Amino acid sequence: MNTERIVCLSRQEIEKMRKAGQTAAELLAYLEPMVKPGVSTLELNDAAEAWTQERGAISAPLGYHGFPKSICTSINDVVCHGIPNAKQVLKDGDIINIDVTPIVDGFHGDTSRTYFVGTPSPLAKKLVEVTEECMMRGIAAVKPGGRVGDIGAAIQEYAESNGFSVVRDFVGHGVGRTFHTAPQIPHYGTAGKGKKFRPGMVFTIEPMINEGTYEVEVMADKWTALTKDRKLSAQFEHTIAVTKEGVDILTLHPALVTA
Ligand code: MF3
Ligand code: CO
Ligand code: CO
Repeated sequence: MNTERIVCLSRQEIEKMRKAGQTAAELLAYLEPMVKPGVSTLELNDAAEAWTQERGAISAPLGYHGFPKSICTSINDVVCHGIPNAKQVLKDGDIINIDVTPIVDGFHGDTSRTYFVGTPSPLAKKLVEVTEECMMRGIAAVKPGGRVGDIGAAIQEYAESNGFSVVRDFVGHGVGRTFHTAPQIPHYGTAGKGKKFRPGMVFTIEPMINEGTYEVEVMADKWTALTKDRKLSAQFEHTIAVTKEGVDILTLHPALVTA
């Protein structure tokens, strides 16, 4: 049983989370043009680490429970937590999720996107588009008076109606001064169930959507999670805050934020 308390953040703390979140979004935007055939995932990692240090920020994944690198790079059948490696080189037709979490002034900004390397297959394109829409529908399900189960229900309905499956073994999470905290946010489930949304709650919505079975396997490196059937998996992630009116996406790029 998870009895960890859900921390609600103050307005000032949420503005700090927005700074961290925007830094995370900027880091993804910085890495995106590097996503080309021939680039290794270690090159992406090292560029991310250098960029983060230049900002005076810290890469949360590095050393987190022993994770050896600064970002996660998850290609094709890797569901999440792929470890950057010099020998792993991107090739045309791959899909790659890049997951970044800079710590800025003590707060974590956690976001990820799945990118196409060169030209995707029609199936890969559909999976990635459906996964991004799953994340957005999950975010749209956060409403005053609602419950955590509303998120998973919205995501599961859209994923499964498109013939895909929702990963069970990894969930969204509360985030703030701590990388992973309560509440857990499953990307499947039943509307009306689970914890009630309260203004000031800050958590991630980060659905992993699979082409085939939702079952995953963790490799001998203890991190890399891959689909049991070795079919494709995609993921998108935003960090959001619950507000009195609805929801505030904290990991939007500053150029996309108006007023
Ligand atoms: N950023 C991942 C998440 O979305 C967590 C990565 S933990 C690591 O929760 F140790 F693998 F980096
Ligand atoms: Co993440
Ligand atoms: Co996360």
